[in-house]
Amino acid sequence: MYVTSVKCSKCEQEYSPHNLLTVCKDCGGALLFQYHLDKVAEAISKETLRYRESTFWKFKELLPITSPKNIVSLGEPYTPLLKLPKSLVKPFKNVYAKDEGRLPTGTFKARGMAVTVSKLKELGVKRLAIPSAGNAAAALAAYGARAGMEVHAFIPKDAPETTIKECFFLGAKVHLVDGLISNAAALMNKLKDQHGWFDASTNKQPYRFEGYKAMAFEIAEQYNWKPPDAIIFPTGGGEGVIGLWKGFKELVELGWINETPRIIIAQSTGCAPLVEAFHKRANELVKPWPNAQTIAAGLRVPSPYASYLTLRAIRETNGNAIAVSDEEIIQSMKSLLKSGVYACPEAAATLAALNKSVEYNVFDPDERILLCLTGTVMKNFDLLTVNKDKLSSNH
Ligand SMILES: Cc1ncc(COP(=O)(O)O)c(C=O)c1O
Ligand SMILES: [Zn+2]
Repeated sequence: MYVTSVKCSKCEQEYSPHNLLTVCKDCGGALLFQYHLDKVAEAISKETLRYRESTFWKFKELLPITSPKNIVSLGEPYTPLLKLPKSLVKPFKNVYAKDEGRLPTGTFKARGMAVTVSKLKELGVKRLAIPSAGNAAAALAAYGARAGMEVHAFIPKDAPETTIKECFFLGAKVHLVDGLISNAAALMNKLKDQHGWFDASTNKQPYRFEGYKAMAFEIAEQYNWKPPDAIIFPTGGGEGVIGLWKGFKELVELGWINETPRIIIAQSTGCAPLVEAFHKRANELVKPWPNAQTIAAGLRVPSPYASYLTLRAIRETNGNAIAVSDEEIIQSMKSLLKSGVYACPEAAATLAALNKSVEYNVFDPDERILLCLTGTVMKNFDLLTVNKDKLSSNH
């Protein structure tokens, strides 16, 4: 293992990677694994990696798992890049989508949970709890089921039906909660210590980020080590963006790429706390977004923990932040489907943000832009209506 320590992203306090960790004991900051990157660069190269199988575990030297026997896998493929037709992305000329819906459980959350469950298995954890808008809990339930762990999923009652069913049939104990993910978190926090559950909340442990890093590694390799100029990522809690950014930074330090792409987050106008904080030049969120409401459940996070880190990722990469309406999201889901692309509402928000960006001059038409389509539409077809009477054949 090439891990040197785990460091607080706020006060730089260091922790042992061999201990079970949540957040910084001194300041509550998010913890991030640190690697001996010089040694990684001696052990592997871009060239040697070419001969390894293209799966999520290919960059194992940059993951925190000590022994391969602890890896809990459901078969994680490289997700494909799909070129998007000009008609969808006018006036932009070079736009690809990374289709994360191909992963187990149909979303990118599988990446974070594959690493989290593997590392927790290594550390002897057997019982976990998570507050979630749905997809993160489903991914944790799937990997937990694979590892034989007890998973407690705290989910808002109005979360997408499929994700609730997923958690239940995967064997998780489902706790449905009135209100939002913040209410789910409050209930879980009340119960977790008395039951001895490990808190797998977004940004409150260092393990999930490590899984999301693999998106950066795959993207860099798929772009032949010249990653796109900009990436649009749908953002709720911010963990995906933080992981993506961390992965690219490690590649820059390894000397394998020159620069981290600009990171542009997409949120919903019904819940856009990070977009607002970014444009107000705030370093951190000061208050929760009031009356959060959007069809994109994963983006309905009124008060993300460690918001300073997502904002840092956007600023350090010279990125931006764009909010789009639910109508624009639905329209984008439909246009993507017309091109054969399966995008859930969160994922479709990236295309809506690209279209909206024209108003703000965020991109040059020639820039190489990548949309991270974080999940499949298969769980959300109920959001698209069809009049069956009109389809009935009169022949
Ligand atoms: C499909 C999908 N995309 C994006 C997000 C947002 O991810 P994050 O919370 O890491 O910002 C979520 C969160 O649940 C999600 O389910
Ligand atoms: Zn700290």
